[in-house]
Amino acid sequence: MFNEERRFEQPIRWGMVGGGRGSQIGYAHRSAAHRDGLFKLVAGAFDLDADRCREFGVNLGLDADRCYSNYKEFFAAESKRPDGIQAVSVATPNSTHYEICKAALDVGLHIVCEKPLTFTSEEAEELKAIAAEKNCVIGVMYGYSGFPMVHQAREMVERGDLGEIRVVNMQFAHGFHNEEYELNDPGLKWRVSPAASGPTYVLGDIGTHAYYLCEVMTGLEIDRLACMRQSFIASRQPLEDNAHVMMEFKGGAVGTLWASAVNAGSMHEQRIRIVGSKASIEWWDEHPNQLRYEVQGEAPRVLDRGMGYLYQDVEGVAANRIGGGHAEGFFESWANLYHRFALAFDAADRDDQETLNSIWFPGVDAGIEGVRLCEKCVESADQGAAWVAYND
Ligand code: NAI
Repeated sequence: MFNEERRFEQPIRWGMVGGGRGSQIGYAHRSAAHRDGLFKLVAGAFDLDADRCREFGVNLGLDADRCYSNYKEFFAAESKRPDGIQAVSVATPNSTHYEICKAALDVGLHIVCEKPLTFTSEEAEELKAIAAEKNCVIGVMYGYSGFPMVHQAREMVERGDLGEIRVVNMQFAHGFHNEEYELNDPGLKWRVSPAASGPTYVLGDIGTHAYYLCEVMTGLEIDRLACMRQSFIASRQPLEDNAHVMMEFKGGAVGTLWASAVNAGSMHEQRIRIVGSKASIEWWDEHPNQLRYEVQGEAPRVLDRGMGYLYQDVEGVAANRIGGGHAEGFFESWANLYHRFALAFDAADRDDQETLNSIWFPGVDAGIEGVRLCEKCVESADQGAAWVAYND
């Protein structure tokens, strides 16, 4: 069970770019980072508007002179201070991730970046190379991967409880954007603009989350894929508000991914079903404390977080903050990830490669993979949903 006992002497001095007042995801970062006392927010460039950034930062308890009007000024000033930030989270629209991460790495900062990490896999690979050179760690905020039952699923697949994996069914299909809400919603407006969002909308925005769960739970690698994408709200073209992807994995398993923002009436519908030769499991992010386990010929079971029958020897499964039966949720999953990011950053700073290698977290490779998925889906869709090789 996690508690907030200190894992190292002083919390990591931490800052944020983006995530300002009114942003969708800024609070989730701050709440998760602060949960176990391993990070302390000391500075930020939270907003495009300098006055609003300062006012917001001061209200968060920061010194006014550490609330900066842009990321360049932020990194330059902090890198000159003896007590300057050691790590930064990037929670800005997608178009800015690459340049902000590159600037952060230039001054030796560890990073937690939002997904999709960059627009192109070349950019993501470049960040990986610079991070290695600078001994910096990049975490990518695939926030659903911190749930203990996700790790139970991973272990069940790994230990053969399902038999040979045959089919993976993924979806993240909500209904919140079934009409042209971007006309009055700036957070949606940038998501449907290629200049700010990148080559995709729903594939990058939510499809990457569902696909990352598949990566974590199964370790399967795509061999080739075919993607059909379209926009039911015409003004969103060329970006898609709905997409279907078929995948063939190396080794013979197959998969599908449905990413949609026009699944009218649906809240989230992020589900993953993994079908093996003996049994299947299914996980749904709206009920993250449960994992359905169905063995062919037996009554279906619902496994619950925090129970003794789970794989207790696995750190991710044991990452509970309260006993079973109490509902843990989104913020706990994020806090579990920030906890790991902190341990990874600390291990890197101590040149403790062994510890660093032993900490599981969504890192730069996960970020690259998400970007590559988007690229390949666009390549396929542009050719009329043709099958395209994944790693050419
Ligand atoms: P948003 O539009 O609600 O907020 C963006 C914030 O960043 C605003 O405060 C804005 O003023 C600030 N900002 C924009 N450009 C900036 C710059 N150059 N410098 C400093 N601040 C800047 O966006 P939202 O929804 O919070 O998304 C931000 C990122 O987080 C996106 O990459 C998105 O894909 C990702 N995201 C991830 C989620 C997850 O579950 N991991 C959930 C929601 C968003």
